Amino acid sequence: MPELALLGGAKSKRKPFPEWPQFDANERRALMEVLESRVWWRTPGTRTLEFEQAFAKVHGARHGVAVTNGTAALEVTIAALGIGHGDEVILPNFTFVATASAVLFANALPVLVDVAPETYCIDPDLVEAAITSRTKAIIAVHMGGHPADLDRLSEIARRHNLSLVEDSSHAHASEWRGRRIGTFGAAGTFSFQSSKLMTAGEGGMIISNDDDFERQARSVHDCGRMPGEWFYSHFIYGSNYRLSEWQGAVLNVQLARLDEQTKRRHQNARVLDKLLCEIPGITPQKIDSRCTRNGQYAYIFHVNSKELAGISTEQFIAAMNAEGIPNQASYPPLHELHMFRNGEYRKRLAGAQASEDHAFLQQKFPHTQRAAWETVWIPQPALLGDEEDMHEIAAALRKIQRCAKEITAQPLAPARAAR
Ligand SMILES: Cc1ncc(COP(=O)(O)O)c(C=O)c1O
Repeated sequence: MPELALLGGAKSKRKPFPEWPQFDANERRALMEVLESRVWWRTPGTRTLEFEQAFAKVHGARHGVAVTNGTAALEVTIAALGIGHGDEVILPNFTFVATASAVLFANALPVLVDVAPETYCIDPDLVEAAITSRTKAIIAVHMGGHPADLDRLSEIARRHNLSLVEDSSHAHASEWRGRRIGTFGAAGTFSFQSSKLMTAGEGGMIISNDDDFERQARSVHDCGRMPGEWFYSHFIYGSNYRLSEWQGAVLNVQLARLDEQTKRRHQNARVLDKLLCEIPGITPQKIDSRCTRNGQYAYIFHVNSKELAGISTEQFIAAMNAEGIPNQASYPPLHELHMFRNGEYRKRLAGAQASEDHAFLQQKFPHTQRAAWETVWIPQPALLGDEEDMHEIAAALRKIQRCAKEITAQPLAPARAAR
């Protein structure tokens, strides 16, 4: 009888993982209250406003501006920082496309740099080396919930007079040296898309401690209006990025669960650290000693094919699926995306910047390559389970490691489309 579920054996996971998104009577009540109030629009409403204030407070920020999604949060931030034609913004090659496309949206050039080998967050030395006279900002991404090196990045940003933006789409309530992420630089941006650590299906937030930045961002997100002015005065270029009252109401309730859920995810992930680091060929994302709490959007681990009978990441994922362990694909390196390879991105640029060589596109990015093609992610809802769930995950991965040879003898699972 085969041991692996992939080959007809029994599944390792018997008890179901918690469902996501989570909701109870409080979300139901909040939505009914919005419905019956007939105030569904943010402008005269109170729910989204309350949520902005509460979310900012939880992260130790003075201001919060709620927007339609995490991509919009980056777009509004970049516009509010005055970044545009001819400018450069340094960001990690290993991230979701939105971190780079928001820069292109502002007609500026995203300059991609490699990540640190163990945390998969932007490498501060490479940031410093990529700074030119055109650089205006650095975007750090807190990968999987693990903060980027905020000590080094804030110091570099200060010394070179650059804006630091924290793309915190994975890192609600994460902490660096006991302080919540999001206010180490000019602004922190968040996503409330369905898979994120709290959600209204879609949604986003910008937090900041800078009063001038907040005024600018609020105006950009509301058609160039300014608080206290006539409704039809539009002072700067802006668009409509407002979040509805439905989403504000749901997110207020979701926020009330964030602290307890973050603690649970962080603790369960540390249980997995201990169990998985004993499995040959599997290396969990390193947790820096200065990361005092990881929001843990995902549990990321590296699979060393050489130590696992030459197994491919696709085969490893197929075996995990069969064992009943949820997983999600890692991001491909941004510089390998079609829009960078076929030159489409240049259409967003102007002047010399549109036609000159962009040296970073010729680089090798070894750590991004490894993170993109050789890591596996266990999504956050699984970390809301109990300790027994973590032991079942570890048992499944131990089984895959033990039987890796039987997997590599099978035909290859299809490779990921982006490759
Ligand atoms: C790192 C990162 N930045 C930005 C975004 C964009 O957020 P949204 O999907 O809400 O637009 C995401 C979402 O997946 C993300 O993972």
